[in-house]
Amino acid sequence: VVEHPRLTVVGTGYLGATHAVCMAILGYEVLGLDVDEKKVRQLNSGVVPFFEPGLPEKLQEALGSGRLRFTTDYDDAAAFGDVHFICVGTPQTSGSAAADMTYVDSAFSELARRITSRSLLVGKSTVPTGTAARLTETVRSLSPAGAALEVAWNPEFLREGFAVKDTLHPDRLVFGVESDWAQAQLEAAFAPIIAEGTPVVVSDLATSELVKVAANSFLATKISFINAMAEVCEATGADVSLLAQALSLDSRIGGRFLNPGLGFGGGCLPKDIRAFTHRADELGVGQATAFLREVDGINDRRRTRAVDVLRELVGGDLRGARIACLGAAFKPNSDDVRDAPALHVAQLLHDEGARVAVYDPEAMPNARRKYPELSYADSAEEAVERADAVALLTEWQEFRDADPAALGALVTHRRLLDARHALDADTYRAAGWEVRALGRPKQSRPLTLVSRTPDGRD
Ligand code: UDX
Repeated sequence: VVEHPRLTVVGTGYLGATHAVCMAILGYEVLGLDVDEKKVRQLNSGVVPFFEPGLPEKLQEALGSGRLRFTTDYDDAAAFGDVHFICVGTPQTSGSAAADMTYVDSAFSELARRITSRSLLVGKSTVPTGTAARLTETVRSLSPAGAALEVAWNPEFLREGFAVKDTLHPDRLVFGVESDWAQAQLEAAFAPIIAEGTPVVVSDLATSELVKVAANSFLATKISFINAMAEVCEATGADVSLLAQALSLDSRIGGRFLNPGLGFGGGCLPKDIRAFTHRADELGVGQATAFLREVDGINDRRRTRAVDVLRELVGGDLRGARIACLGAAFKPNSDDVRDAPALHVAQLLHDEGARVAVYDPEAMPNARRKYPELSYADSAEEAVERADAVALLTEWQEFRDADPAALGALVTHRRLLDARHALDADTYRAAGWEVRALGRPKQSRPLTLVSRTPDGRD
């Protein structure tokens, strides 16, 4: 076992870039690899190619320490590392629920072909159960090192917006290993984090792969559970916010990931639950994960419900109505628009003939690229100007802090859909707004107990 292993990190997206930077900060020699030359150039010059609070500062600190650099060269990476982390994406395959394994397969193969001595290849990507076992066979048959090459799995649970904190101070580490040697290598690679008292679960390969999809399935289910209750509330005149408050005070249930609203999006939860149901079908246990299809369905219905409420707010016909869409990113503190509920709603409104004006503090370039047919505004003020209704779709702090009277002076009609339960309905009503929130009655009681804050895990 190498006591201070040299680390390579293959793939420099949210996961890989953050991992590479944080490991260098913790004192390891790290080489990051990406096939995208532009990304590598940016990272080497201290620029993070995506929005992640705190990461640019840490990148510059890590580069300054001399312990971190980035390359496109697999020969360099194979020769450099004792432990190789593979952090490439597993997006949803187009036209199927399955995960696209092209990038993972290629990263493992490219490294294996070039590695000549005993090494550990550690997958961090979210993959279908059984992948690590399959890759073990592949890499051993490809590598000059043969059986001296071992595969381990170390799933990553970081959240966008909290990536640095979640990487340096995770709730737990999971090591899927096949030998004591692999376990010892991983313990050496995470020594400073383990020394902080972080719990480590050591398991077989299949369990470690499953932990990640199970965790994301649970979180998605919790969100869809409260959103399903919102549907029931809408049919009965009950208030899902008060319901969520009352449920969250049961310590067995807890309040985190119980915020009702527009539901989940992003590059992980939606595609992970779909890939999981697909894999379960393949394994012949599709019935066990059938409920996840409903979780996905509930999540989707929130988006059409948001459109229904907006249609109602503007008097029954969206054609020609000006709708200000506040938010585009799938959640605040991110510029990620993958499967973003906000943009899906904006698109549905646009399809129905509404004149949307979308504004997001960070996600505008990504939103414009992905939804070029929508109209965009350069500020929240510009978006709401002459609006017939305002829709709060992503709960950025900037929108929480907005002054209802000032906004009211800009719009044509003071009508608000708070699709994220982020604004104080009473303050808006006092300023003359007609306020609707998903799952809440038209005249809701004030929330008295818990103030809703972004899920900061503190
Ligand atoms: C998620 C997991 O949390 C993380 O552990 C995993 O590694 C990757 O997937 P992330 O995609 O960054 O992380 O976002 P997260 O903060 O989990 O939010 C996911 C979505 O759920 C967002 O669209 C958010 O708006 C929504 N959400 C979250 C709710 O609608 N209600 C909630 O109560 C919590």
